[in-house]
Amino acid sequence: MLPHKKITILVVDDELSIREAFSDWLKQDGFEVETADDGPVALAKIKERHYDIMLVDVKMPQMDGITLLKHLKENDPDTAVVMMTAHGAIQDAVEAIKLGANDYLLKPFELEELSLTIEKLVQMQTLAMENLILKDRVASITRFENLVGQSPPMLKLFETIVNVARSDATVLITGETGTGKELVARTIHARSPRGYSPFIAINCGAFTEHLLESELFGHERGAFTDAKFTKKGRLEMANAGTLFLDEVGDISMKMQIDLLRVLETHEFTRVGGTTTINSDFRVIAATHQDLQESIRRRTFRQDLFYRLNVIHLEVPPLRERPEDIPLLAEHFLRRYATETGKKIDSIHPEALAAMRRHAWPGNIRELENAIERAVVVGKSRQIKPADLPFVFAPGGAEEAANLSLEDMERRHIALVLAAEGGHITNAAKVLRINRNTLYEKIKKYGLTP
Ligand SMILES: Nc1ncnc2c1ncn2[C@@H]1O[C@H](COP(=O)(O)OP(=O)(O)OP(=O)(O)O)[C@@H](O)[C@H]1O
Ligand SMILES: [Mg+2]
Repeated sequence: MLPHKKITILVVDDELSIREAFSDWLKQDGFEVETADDGPVALAKIKERHYDIMLVDVKMPQMDGITLLKHLKENDPDTAVVMMTAHGAIQDAVEAIKLGANDYLLKPFELEELSLTIEKLVQMQTLAMENLILKDRVASITRFENLVGQSPPMLKLFETIVNVARSDATVLITGETGTGKELVARTIHARSPRGYSPFIAINCGAFTEHLLESELFGHERGAFTDAKFTKKGRLEMANAGTLFLDEVGDISMKMQIDLLRVLETHEFTRVGGTTTINSDFRVIAATHQDLQESIRRRTFRQDLFYRLNVIHLEVPPLRERPEDIPLLAEHFLRRYATETGKKIDSIHPEALAAMRRHAWPGNIRELENAIERAVVVGKSRQIKPADLPFVFAPGGAEEAANLSLEDMERRHIALVLAAEGGHITNAAKVLRINRNTLYEKIKKYGLTP
């Protein structure tokens, strides 16, 4: 339940029966309610204090609701306004919305309908307030080096990083894709006594066994056909610094033996060489795989696991720390707005709500990409729900659930094309496909650019 207690509503209507009925009803819903019987009375009241919500009748004898609304928007623009207008006078409602009213009700209406409308406004206001508070917070306590977060698991992680950075122990970082494993590794390095020496990363999953061997250990000239020069390996480059073994779960069984040996002795020879080389590096490893499971399947050596897993850090997936979503969104918004020079400085409460509902299978990387894209396609100062790749305007999630993948692709392309004013190159950029692919898809789906 939302914190109704503190929310104040002013009902402005010239009919006594309406004022009384609304007042009783809304008080039962837990709101603090006051009334005014005409525009000038309401104006006097809003000079005295702030109301969160105002219910305003359009037709009143001394000052009509539209005039009152204009005054209100000048005096206290943060008040949410619901206009009440007669069924035949929908144009008044339209005019009111244009002037900044948040919603309208067509008389006569059921009291339940009134409750729903108010409830919706309360939710929006709570979210908008959260948004404001966030802005202050992002700048201060919610940052640890480049890591943003305020959820209990992240605060705990920050604490662990401080301790781990002081030691020279080997660290194994696990977590789903995009959770920030590499960023955590970089943070540990930066805060460690080795921070001024190099941080050498190697993605073990990106190389074949032979290439990985020469990448890690280096090679002598002529060691194999392509070895035209002597090359230092990453183990050597990481001397005095930190070696980050990314995707360590992807290493072949043979390489695991070699790696284990070098982690124990810090001694090795280059491929094709005979000289023993010594390197003083600290190891931080990361993987998105479940290494215990790999050990059971005999694709990962238990002894190597123990060697790496001296200290274990688990980076939680984003869906387990929803408190961090708005914070991270704000953080990335600042970054990409600055980078692109676009004047986008806030996130619509509904967009924020959609982000909270999303499951984020790609975790923070997905969130970062979503915000980057929203900044690129955004046409106003605020990120709107429709700017988010996982929101399908106007139907929302339920409608999306009935669409085939092709339907979604068609709609998404149409959406981006429209947002880019039919500009193929820009649309292709947003969609991250090349122009030819986009042309093909436009033809396939019978779209008009
Ligand atoms: N807590 C955080 N605060 C700010 N940015 C973050 C945070 N965590 C991750 N990021 C950003 O999200 C992106 C993905 O992070 P990173 O590359 O560290 O993830 P990863 O776990 O190594 O992913 P993968 O398993 O796919 O390699 C990066 O751009 C990183 O800067
Ligand atoms: Mg990574």
